[in-house]
Amino acid sequence: MVNSVANHGYLPRNGLNISLPDLIVAFTAALNLDPAATTLVGNKALLSGNNVTFDLDNLNKHGILEHDGSLSRNDVYFGDNHSFNETIWTSVASHFNQSTISIATAAIARKERLQAAAAVNPAFSLSASDTQFSFIETALYLSIFGSVEDGNAVTEWVKIMFEQERLPFQEGFTTSEEVVTAAGILGLVAKLAAASA
Ligand code: HEM
Repeated sequence: MVNSVANHGYLPRNGLNISLPDLIVAFTAALNLDPAATTLVGNKALLSGNNVTFDLDNLNKHGILEHDGSLSRNDVYFGDNHSFNETIWTSVASHFNQSTISIATAAIARKERLQAAAAVNPAFSLSASDTQFSFIETALYLSIFGSVEDGNAVTEWVKIMFEQERLPFQEGFTTSEEVVTAAGILGLVAKLAAASA
């Protein structure tokens, strides 16, 4: 999503020297994301840079936000934790065979991806913080492309973000009129965790 927002010019297209206020302005304009939600992730992102700003490439640093078992990227153990990985994404997206993605479906897709990653990576690890952010990432795509209460994200829009790194405005996506709150996202995390048990 950060790449998508930069590709639309809400963040510097060169991906350099991004501050927390830059993120808040960008995610408010592009997604109407609560500044508290942007801050939750943005503060972590700053740790990958110099604590005041970061470059998008810094986000590859393993163990800050970047973690094993991503939905569309390989684990750092295999060398490239950055590039979109078609094989991994195809396995995750095979669950998305309806026009919308429910909380239950998103939970299963995430859980199976983590299990598959753990099965092939002898160095696989996921800290408590990584686990929480992995749930937050799934909650984010469900709430931005669906509803912060019930998920049900539009499958086509989710695929466009992952596969083309752009916002699906041409396909009917519009910036939410209501703030997508941090509290709502954390509520969705709890629902995803319950659906994963
Ligand atoms: C402050 C803003 C944000 C920052 C700095 C940020 C950064 C990151 C980073 C570093 C990752 C990689 C984690 C990994 O899988 O190893 C990630 C993953 C992800 N982010 Fe964000 N993010 C932000 C906001 C958002 C928003 C608003 C969305 C809404 C859709 C989003 C959706 C995702 C998703 C779905 C993933 C998982 C990708 C995958 O597993 O392949 N992010 N984010």
